[in-house]
Formats: sequence, structure tokens, C-alpha cells
Amino acid sequence: MAVATILLLLSSVFISSQAHLQLLADPNESFTSILISQQGLDFVKNLLISKAILSMIPLKLPRIEESAKFPFLGNVHMVLSNITIYKIDVLSSYVKPGDHGITIVASGATCNLSMNWHYSYSSWLLPLEISDKGSASVQVDGMQVGLTIGLENHGGTLMLSLMDCGCYVTDISIKLDGGASWLYQGMIDAFEGQIASAVENAVAKKLKEGILRLDSFLQALPKEIPVDDNASLNVTFIDNPLLSNSSIGFHISGLFTRRKNVPVTKRYHQSFHPSVFCKDQSKMLGISLDEAVFNSAAALYYDAAFMQWIVDKVPDQSLLNTAGWRFIIPQLYKKYPNDDMNLNVSLSSPPVIRISERNIGATVYADVIIDVVEAGQVIPVACISLVIRGLASVKIIENNLAGSVKLDDLAMSLKWSQIGNLRMYLIQPVMWTITQTVVLPYANAHLGKGFPLPIIHGFTLHNAEIVCSSSMVTICSDVTYSESKNLSSALTRFE
Ligand SMILES: *[C@@H]1O[C@H](CO)[C@@H](O)[C@H](O)[C@H]1NC(C)=O
Ligand SMILES: *[C@@H]1O[C@H](CO)[C@@H](O)[C@H](O)[C@H]1NC(C)=O
Ligand SMILES: *[C@@H]1O[C@H](CO)[C@@H](O)[C@H](O)[C@H]1NC(C)=O
Ligand SMILES: *[C@@H]1O[C@H](CO)[C@@H](O)[C@H](O)[C@H]1NC(C)=O
Ligand SMILES: *[C@@H]1O[C@H](CO)[C@@H](O)[C@H](O)[C@H]1NC(C)=O
Ligand SMILES: *[C@@H]1O[C@H](CO)[C@@H](O)[C@H](O)[C@H]1NC(C)=O
Ligand SMILES: *[C@@H]1O[C@H](CO)[C@@H](O)[C@H](O)[C@H]1NC(C)=O
Ligand SMILES: *[C@@H]1O[C@H](CO)[C@@H](O)[C@H](O)[C@H]1NC(C)=O
Repeated sequence: MAVATILLLLSSVFISSQAHLQLLADPNESFTSILISQQGLDFVKNLLISKAILSMIPLKLPRIEESAKFPFLGNVHMVLSNITIYKIDVLSSYVKPGDHGITIVASGATCNLSMNWHYSYSSWLLPLEISDKGSASVQVDGMQVGLTIGLENHGGTLMLSLMDCGCYVTDISIKLDGGASWLYQGMIDAFEGQIASAVENAVAKKLKEGILRLDSFLQALPKEIPVDDNASLNVTFIDNPLLSNSSIGFHISGLFTRRKNVPVTKRYHQSFHPSVFCKDQSKMLGISLDEAVFNSAAALYYDAAFMQWIVDKVPDQSLLNTAGWRFIIPQLYKKYPNDDMNLNVSLSSPPVIRISERNIGATVYADVIIDVVEAGQVIPVACISLVIRGLASVKIIENNLAGSVKLDDLAMSLKWSQIGNLRMYLIQPVMWTITQTVVLPYANAHLGKGFPLPIIHGFTLHNAEIVCSSSMVTICSDVTYSESKNLSSALTRFE
């Protein structure tokens, strides 16, 4: 726990965000943007189509019953029962965002059905009722399914609505097996229209149910993602999604907030949303984080007042005995010969993170109180103010943004002293060593884990690239999908 402070501070710098959307809120409150490119939309569309098909089949259609008068035969009663769609294939499909919503069209879909048929009739020619039955297979060859989905911010979450939905069967063929099927084939063809509309209605109904489920899934996404015991990431959606002709953009708050509803004191303002800019247009997804996200983490951990710790173990333990300081601060050794020491490190103001095209810089302001422990009593003897400048590099580990820091520059000044003047040029190398061997390794151990990016459970970043620009870090990436209980249950259970 000794070195927790700086580490927490630095690790906080790299904590992340997960995604969600909201109603026309203050547009200045978004610090993380997400852009899903046409490639990303295609990926999601294919996933949704395969999930929708899995969730639909086997699909039972209502039985069809009809009586009709035929010459010579008289009144014929016909029943089609147990009509089941057991296979659906989609040959081609596309997704297109537009002013009025997102349109998904599956064209050239085919489906296979099975059913039982039954006929009965009696006529004045024959004294008894005649009946026959068998099974039939039905192929639907030309089916076009289209839907338009509206996407809106509703109180910080994303709301999905079905604006338009249609299913049209253009070509159907029925093949009877069993019974005197040759005899009835012609009659059953008269049912084509009814079977086609039963398929159209059943598919459209399932799609509507599916959109409702997807909507509940989106609305149930959390507005905060826990980062650790004390912090979470605010993933409230800000504004409506932005639909262009080939992408969808989302703005989310993205700031770190204190858990347990303690409001964050510091406020951040900016004049425009961060905009996602990926040079590689073929990536599915872009996520841009404004430097305010990192600074909100720094402020949160600073406010939480646990950025303070006592260093009583260092790799070179002689540095924590006055004997080790004999030639650096002779008067200290003279006054407290061979006494143990510790360093009481605290931050004097929140760390500041600056992002530019060239690098990510972190400046940490710390006060180091040199304590002497004499007969169990802690005696503060001097305080040195440090300005630690680090350069950070970031990387993606699974869906986390992680990082590491190396020391770039260390400035120091004497704040106060009980033991007279100190020769800072002699103390400098010691502080440098302690920063390098104690502070940074501890910080990097925490930063190495990183913080979560706003990505829905089940999706994983793949081949991610990180681009730094003025005041912004952008992650450009493809995603892969692996079964996640929540998503599949949302998408596959329609009953
Ligand atoms: C999250 O951000 C939204 C929009 O800025 C804000 O209204 C909400 O109060 C924030 N939540 C917390 C817990 O700070
Ligand atoms: C109804 O159809 C299903 C699937 O084709 C089949 O497994 C089942 O045996 C059929 N039931 C009857 C009563 O024919
Ligand atoms: C399903 O129907 C298609 C044509 O629409 C046909 O080519 C295919 O063989 C059928 N599959 C099965 C399993 O019956
Ligand atoms: C959370 O804050 C408390 C003090 O407020 C601290 O003791 C604890 O270590 C913190 N936990 C984490 C994971 O930072
Ligand atoms: C998308 O819109 C841009 C201008 O906003 C236009 O240049 C481009 O051709 C459009 N692309 C398609 C596929 O419609
Ligand atoms: C949002 O930013 C604009 C431009 O910086 C500023 O004029 C406006 O007052 C800000 N709105 C709020 C609510 O902070
Ligand atoms: C460390 O220093 C702070 C003042 O900066 C003081 O409040 C705190 O009590 C000190 N902690 C210990 C354990 O000496
Ligand atoms: C999905 O489920 C896991 C555990 O089953 C849970 O931790 C996670 O928060 C869920 N994700 C969403 C988006 O609901």
C-alpha cells in the first residue's frame, strides 16, 4: 500500500469508458465519441441477421382451412396444418443509415417449409366421404425483408423503434408427397397466396418482437461502468446518434465519476464534441477520448484524498536510514545518527494530462516529507516539492486502454526544513532514483491493467490502432464477436 498514491493517480489516468446514448443534453458534456463505420455496421447487420434467423426457426404458421366447390367433386374441405418454416437463408443484404433511420434489407432470401395436407369431400356421385392426406414441402424462393429502425437518445440511453417493416414473398412452390398427391397438386397450388401471406405475416411479427427485445437490451445497458471501488465511468449518451450515409456516431459523457453518487467537484468544458477520425477507413469502429476523460480521472482520485502514502521500503534500503544520507545531508546524520527514515508522499494538486500529436504527457505535483523515526516517534525534518513529468504510451489489452509511463523530467525545490539548508543538487539523484525504482514501477503495475473502453459485452477489439491528436486519443479498430449470454439471450429468445 506504501506507494499506492502515485500509482492510483497514474492508473486513473488510463481508466476507460463503455458505450450508451442520451437526449439533447448540454452538448458540451460529451468527452468520448464512438463512430461505427460502414464496415462495422455490416458486421453488426450480419450478426443480427444470423441471430434473428436462429431465433425464428422452427417457426410455426397458423393452420389454413378452406372449403371450395369443385365441378364433379362437389364441396371439398381442405386443411393445411403443422406448417413449419425450418430453414431460412439470406443470400444478400445491406444496411444503410439515412436521415430517417437505419435501413436493413435482406433480399433474395429463401425459406423451406414443411406441412401436412388433408382433403375430404363427398359428392352425389359417391355414397361415402373420401379423404386423403400426406405431407408437403414448400420452397419460398424470392423473399425480400426490409426494416427501418429509428435510434434516439431517451434520457441518456439509446431507444430503438421500428419505423417500417415488411416482408414480401415473390415466388413459392409446393411439392406434395404421399396420398394421391398427383391428384391434388393442382388444387393445393391455389393455396400459394395464402401460404405466402402467412409467411410474410409470421416473419414480420417475429421481426417486430426482435426489435422490441433489442430495444430492451439497449435500454438495460448500464449508464455507468465500474472501474474500481471508488470510480466509475459515466457512459450516459449525450444527444441523438448522428447518422451519416455511411456511419453512425455516438457521443457519451465519458468522464470518471465517483461511485456512491458523490458528485465530482471539478467541471470540464469544451466547445465541441471530440470527433472520431480514423485514417484507415476500413476499420469498423473508432473511439475518441478527450484529454478531459483522463483529467477527470486524475481529479477524482485526487479529490478522494487517497493519493498519499508512506514509503518505507525501497530497493536500496540504505536510502531509508540517516546513515545513507550522511554525505547528502550531513546535519541530518549528525542530529539523528543511524535512525530509520520514511518518506511521506502526497500530491499537492491533481495531476495534469496533456495529449498532443507527438505524445501523452503527465505532470504530477507531489510533496515529499522526509521523516526520521526515532524511538518509535515520527519526526518530519524537511519537505521537498517535486514536479514529475512523465511520458505515457498507451496500448489496448482486450477491451481496456492500458498504458505505461516513463520519467521524462524531475524538478524539485525545498518547501521547508527543520534542519537548515539542504544542497538540492545532492538530493536530486536520490529523488530521481526513488521515482524511477519505486514510484514508476508501482504506477506502471496499475496502469498496465488499464480501464475499460465503452464496448458492449461480447464484442472484442481486434487489430486496434491508437492515434494521438491534439487533446485526443483515438482507437481505431475492428471487432470480433463471441457468444455472450446477455446478448444472445436478448436476441434469440422470442417466445
Ligand atoms: C453522467 O453524465 C450526464 C451527462 O453529462 C450527467 O447528466 C450525469 O449526472 C452524470 N452522472 C454522474 C453520476 O455524474
Ligand atoms: C409437425 O412438423 C414437425 C417439423 O416438420 C414434425 O417434427 C412433427 O412430427 C409434425 N407433427 C405432426 C403431428 O405431423
Ligand atoms: C430449401 O429450398 C431451396 C430452394 O428454395 C432448395 O434448393 C433446398 O434444397 C431446400 N433445402 C432443403 C433442406 O429442403
Ligand atoms: C478507494 O478509496 C479508499 C479511500 O477512500 C481507499 O482506501 C481504497 O484503496 C480505494 N480503492 C481503490 C481500488 O482505489
Ligand atoms: C455520402 O455523403 C457524402 C457527402 O455528405 C457524399 O460525398 C458521398 O458520395 C455519399 N456517399 C454515398 C454512398 O451516398
Ligand atoms: C457550451 O460551449 C459553448 C462554446 O464554448 C458555450 O458558448 C456555451 O456556453 C456552453 N454551454 C454550457 C451549458 O456550458
Ligand atoms: C503525511 O503528511 C501529511 C501532510 O502532508 C500529514 O497530514 C500526514 O499526517 C502525514 N502522514 C504520516 C503518516 O506521517
Ligand atoms: C453480461 O453478463 C455479465 C455476467 O453474466 C455481466 O457482468 C455484464 O455486465 C453483462 N453485460 C451487459 C451489457 O449486460
